[in-house]
Parts: sequence; structure tokens; C-alpha cells
Amino acid sequence: MSYGPAPEGTAEAQAWLAGHDLRFGHFIDGRFTAPESLFDTKSPATGKTLAQVSQGSAASVDAAVAAARRAQPKWARLPGHKRAQYLYALSRLMQKHARLLAVLETMDNGKPIRESRDIDLPLVARHFYYHAGLAQLAPAELPGMEPLGVCGAVIPWNFPLLMLAWKVAPALAAGNTVVLKPAEYTPLTALLFADLSREAGLPRGVLNIVTGDGDTGAALVAHPGIDKIAFTGSTAVGKAIRRATAGTGKALTLELGGKSPYIVFDDADLDSAVEGLVDAIWFNGGQVCCAGSRLLVQEGVAERFHAKLKRRMDGLRIGDPLDKCIDVGAVVDPVQLATITRLVDASEGDKYTADTPLPEGCFYPPTLITGLSAASPLMQEEIFGPVLVSMTFRTPAEAVELANNTRYGLAATVWTENVNLALDIAPKLRAGVVWVNGTNMFDAAAGFGGVRESGFGREGGWEGLHAYLRPKGKTAALKPVAAMPAPKTATVEGLDRTAKLFIGGKQARPDGGYSRAVYSPRGALLGQTGIGSRKDIRNAVEAAQAAKGWARATAHTRAQILFYIAENLSARADEFAARIKAQTGSSGTNEVEAAIARLFTYAAWADKFDGAVKSVPIRGVALAMNEPCGVIGALCPDEAPLLGLVSVMAPAIAMGNTCVLVPSEPFPLSATDFYQVLETSDLPAGVVNIVTGPHADLAKPLAGHMDIDAVWSFSSADVSTIIETESATNLKRTWVNHGRARDWMAAEAEGRSFLRQATAVKTVWVPYGE
Ligand code: NAI
Repeated sequence: MSYGPAPEGTAEAQAWLAGHDLRFGHFIDGRFTAPESLFDTKSPATGKTLAQVSQGSAASVDAAVAAARRAQPKWARLPGHKRAQYLYALSRLMQKHARLLAVLETMDNGKPIRESRDIDLPLVARHFYYHAGLAQLAPAELPGMEPLGVCGAVIPWNFPLLMLAWKVAPALAAGNTVVLKPAEYTPLTALLFADLSREAGLPRGVLNIVTGDGDTGAALVAHPGIDKIAFTGSTAVGKAIRRATAGTGKALTLELGGKSPYIVFDDADLDSAVEGLVDAIWFNGGQVCCAGSRLLVQEGVAERFHAKLKRRMDGLRIGDPLDKCIDVGAVVDPVQLATITRLVDASEGDKYTADTPLPEGCFYPPTLITGLSAASPLMQEEIFGPVLVSMTFRTPAEAVELANNTRYGLAATVWTENVNLALDIAPKLRAGVVWVNGTNMFDAAAGFGGVRESGFGREGGWEGLHAYLRPKGKTAALKPVAAMPAPKTATVEGLDRTAKLFIGGKQARPDGGYSRAVYSPRGALLGQTGIGSRKDIRNAVEAAQAAKGWARATAHTRAQILFYIAENLSARADEFAARIKAQTGSSGTNEVEAAIARLFTYAAWADKFDGAVKSVPIRGVALAMNEPCGVIGALCPDEAPLLGLVSVMAPAIAMGNTCVLVPSEPFPLSATDFYQVLETSDLPAGVVNIVTGPHADLAKPLAGHMDIDAVWSFSSADVSTIIETESATNLKRTWVNHGRARDWMAAEAEGRSFLRQATAVKTVWVPYGE
């Protein structure tokens, strides 16, 4: 039996387009503006122009930001319940107009109607429902938090409406207003959404949409009136946005590319794994950031699996995406088709093309490439098309090694009937999302996002909402804290001692061989500290990397060690207090007490910063696991030489990170005394490394280092811009003070905000049932 054509009607969508005269301005302050510099948006399946949209100028972006700014305070002041009602109204309207939205999405993007109707739209509605709930609960559940202000959202073309939902729903729920720039290939459903927002009675200026290309996106990113940028798209543009926003104080979340592994063990249900693979790589024609585009199959079953896969590929139907029987639709644009073609044509390996009719136009056949080496470009680079690459492995350890052999870390899939193996492998995979015996499972309650060059931040769940909030209240400016000046003639108290660096559990001389004298306020020479250099940072990072087994120590062990550090510090409390007094001139007693208490706080947290089981609508569980970031490099506060160091170190190591700490620059001797405490506290070598030296010089090598996963700065030196700029090299997470002060004695200097920065949520989906 063969399929007959089953086209979905487009009359309603055509009527909506006609109602706008096939020409759109931007949606600013609750109304459509007059069209400017029009360009075509086309159906990729037919090549025909659907409508014309405006290329947003700097002036349009400016007008949209101004409207959002005007509307924001009132929107933020609404009770959560009011915002929840608007979000609920939006979700109801999305459901009411689901068919129209799905058809328009398919016309503009080329994805099969089956997908836009059965996957995208239900997820979109679910996202608004879920965030209606978060809007309702947030004021009571997160009382110390407030919205960021005006959020700029820049989204890609692969899930136009879903990405809009992922950005707009949490932003509005949290009390922010939004300026959204849809992708240039797929602006239409966003414009229809603008119409629906009017129908929902959303106040003017709360949602603004400016269409255009990358230049419009860049203008939005650069606009000084924006408080946060949420971006989904390519890693290259993500890096550019990281650099463009560096030092501006704009919050940033990036959801970028991937080359996600799809691991099939020899005990897997191979037929199900093949079906999963169809969803993993041919869903939306492979134009999916988390596409399972890298098949890793265990050697013993590889031949059988590939044979089954090829048979299934031959059965895929490619063609008119509006046809309800179509499996693979059109590629979004001829430019993208040319990219896919170029990448595949240039690749080595055995290429298998699905034996299925291929229509003329912007279509690419499902393709499997085997026989590649791990380093082949197509094993490493995102193709963003219906092209699967495949390799074999022998052991679980090798599977993990191959899976992690990528600069990305978005998603991973594991197929095995052995639950022990699956749950052993999942934490070892460097990815923000892991699917066990299934793939591409999404839900608004479960965080989605990456690690490494797949970006940072989560979308969905409470963790996603946090990306749109900040602690309430104003902070004071942090003035530079200077070292005590050298006197004309220094007095020497006790033995002249040169403190070394602390690297890999050992005291180490600085590579450059230079040191600096530290004086008391009265001009007494207190000692010398090493001037650390780029080379010392490299050595410290190497030691921190080698100590990563710390992440596998039980939380109980980490807690015990933190208690033990506190105990050993307490035994020398008077000496540490005296040292603080000698360096700063102020009593150190309270600071030492607070440092001991803070160590207790994180000893307590070590086994209590629990993950969660998310209430997702599947038979199964979605586990949200708080994983350590990896290696954290940190510039510690200058003004609190001991408490500052402890406040940074303790949450990092409590969560299983290892760290490279640059202590207070003017008062470094508390840190160099403190490593003696660490030496006697059973802390494994390399978990904490201390490199003294000038913050302004060490910020760059820390932030640019490829083997550091996150950089924090509480320095009084002006290094936030350097750190955020340099971090773009591998898109490490950053947490910098932008020159704002923090009271290290206060409650704001400990707790969940630090723990969240020290961890990344990994969502592990485990469906169950026979
Ligand atoms: P892109 O990253 O250039 O575009 C995504 C969005 O960013 C669009 O709205 C675009 O207008 C905007 N944009 C572009 N340059 C910008 C800039 N400098 N500042 C601010 N906004 C900017 O992605 P593109 O060109 O559409 O696709 C290229 C490749 O990117 C694809 O082949 C694919 O590999 C990858 N990609 C990944 C996506 C993901 O979800 N991870 C989504 C889209 C593309």
C-alpha cells in the first residue's frame, strides 16, 4: 500500500497573511509599525514568497526597548496572580489557534506539519501554562528576588514558536518585559503571536517584536537599555554576543550548538533504538541543536544495527511538509542546503543515502556516514541537517570517552536494557541533558541547556526562572582596595618569610621567581608573597584537573572535610585574627569567626543541595541533578582576606568542584597561612590551588584557559570586562561583580546563590515500563 497525498489546508493562514496585506512592520508598544526596508520570507518547500517583513533598524530597536522600558515597572508591580492570568490567557489562545499556528510554522520553516502540530504547538502551550504557574508562585517562593528589567531575546529558525515560548514565558512570568528578534527565515509565527498577545489583552510594551537579520540582533544585543540577553543559535554568534555584552552588566544565557552522541549498547532493544534515532536525527530534518547526530554503537551489534537503520531510512518519506504523511520536510533555506551539501561532499567515509524519492527543491536526503575517525570534521562539527555520522566502540569506558570527545555538551542519549549501566553512564557524559532509552524528550518543568561550548543557563523549570531574576536591592560601588605602601625604612617583625604558592597539594615557588613585600599599616614588613604568572595558573589548572576525582567523593566525605578544615582553623583562630589585624589594621576576630561559621555552612550544604525529580508528563522520571561545574577559577575579595577566600572556596568544593584561587591582592598572607590548614585537613591534593599575584594580570589567563569551566571574580580590581571577554574562548561560565560590593559578613555572601553558581543542572530522563 502506498500513501496518497494528505495535504493540510492553508486557507486560514493565507487569510491571516492577507489581513496584514502580506507586509509586516514591527510590533512595538502594542501595535504594528509601518513597514520599513522590507525583505521576503519564503516557503522553503516551494520557494514562493509568503510575505514581506521589515529589516529592523537601530531606531526600531531603540523604539522597542523604550516601549519595553516604559511598561516594565508596572508589569513588575502586578501581583503574580495577574501575570499568571495573562500567561494562562496566552496558552489558551495558543491552543485555540493551534492549527493556524502549526500551519503557518510549517509554511515558513518547512518542518513537517506532523511535527509542528503534534510536538511544537503542544510544547508551546505547555510552556505558557507552566510559566503561568511560576508567575503565580514566584513571589511567595522567591521572596528575595526581583525581575532583571528589559530582556532581549534572539532566537533561531529551527523552532521559531517554541524558542519564542522558551524566552518570553519565563521573562514575563518573572516580571520582565521583552524585545524579541525572530530569525530572518522564520518571523511569521512570532508576528501571529503578537496578534494573539493583543487578543489576550497583554499591556502595551510588555512584548515587542522587531524583525530583521543578524544586524538587527546585534543592535538589540548592543542596546544599553537591555538588562539581559537570552540567545539561541550558533556557537559562533554566541561567542560574539558574549564578547559584545562583556563588562556591560547585562545578564546572559546562551543555548548553542551541539554534536550530541547517541550511544547504543549491545543489549539495547535495537528496533526501539532505531526508532529513537529517527526522532534524534530526522526530527525537523536534523535542524535541531540537540540532534543525536553522532551515533556510537557497540561493535558487536554495529552491522546489524546499521542494516536495520538503512532499512528504516529507506522507508522515510520526504516532501511537502504540509502533507500529513511526510516524515522529513524541507531544509529551511537554500543557504543552509548549500552548507549541508558542502560539508557532506567534502567529507571522507562511506556515505549511505536513503533510497527514497527526493523532491526537487530545498530538500536533502537522510544520510548515514560510517568509517570516519573520531577526529574527522563531521564527527566534530555540527551539520544541522539530516546527516548522521556513526562510529563503533567496544567498552562502556570507550563509549564515554568518544561521547565526550567534542567541544560541545548539549545532550546525549543512551540505549541499554541495563539500568545500572545507563545510570552509571549518564553522570559521566558531559551534557546538560541525557535521555535514557528515548530521545528528544522536552518539558517546561525540566531544565534544558548545555555545558562547554553548547552554552550556559537552563530553560524550563525553577532553574530556568532564576535566569530572569536577581537579588532585590541596590549594591554599593566597590572601591579599589590598595596594599599598604612600602615605608622608607621597614621594620621587620619576626623572621622574614616568603610564602609560596600552593599547587597540587604542595608549596611551590612562583615560576617567574618574583615576590612582593607585604607591609602592615605601620610599615612593618610582614612577609613576602610570590607573584604568580600565566605559567603558575597553567600548573594550578593542571593540578585542579588531575584532582577532578573529587567530584566522585561522596557528599558526606566532602562535608566531613569541610568540618575538619573549620576545626583546624578554629584551633588557630587567634593567630589568623592577629594576621588579619597585622595586614589590615582592623581586628580580625569577627572575620575568623565568620570564616569558621561559613565552613560549617557549606559542610552542612554539601549533602543537602539536593536535585529534584521533575513532574513531567511521561511515564518515567526526569531527574535534575546538581553537578559540579568542574574547575572553577576565582579572584577572591580583596577586602576580606580570609573570609573572602573561604566564602568562595567552600561552596565550590562542597559541590565537588576543584579550584584555582587567587587570594586578596593587598592582603595575601591570610591565604598563604590558610593552605597550611588545608594541608592538615585531609583535603586531596589539587582540589584547592592558591596562586598569589596581581588580579589585573591573572584575570586574563584564568578566563582564557581552555581547561577552566567557570570563572568568578569578587576582586576590587576592574577585571569584569576582561573576564567576560576572555571567557568566550570556550564559553566558560562567569560570575563577576561588575565593581559592586558585597558584605562578606552578611547572609547575602553565602547560600543558594553560591551553590547555584557552583553547579550545573543535568536533566536525566528515564522513561519506564516494559
Ligand atoms: P545564527 O546563530 O546566525 O542565527 C541565530 C539568530 O541570531 C538569528 O535570529 C540571527 O538573526 C541572529 N544573529 C546572527 N548574528 C547575530 C549577531 N551578531 N548578534 C545578534 N544576533 C545575531 O544561526 P544561522 O546563521 O541561522 O545558522 C548557522 C548555523 O548555526 C546552522 O547551520 C547551525 O549549525 C547553527 N544553529 C544552531 C542553532 C541551535 O539551536 N543551536 C539554531 C540555529 C542555527
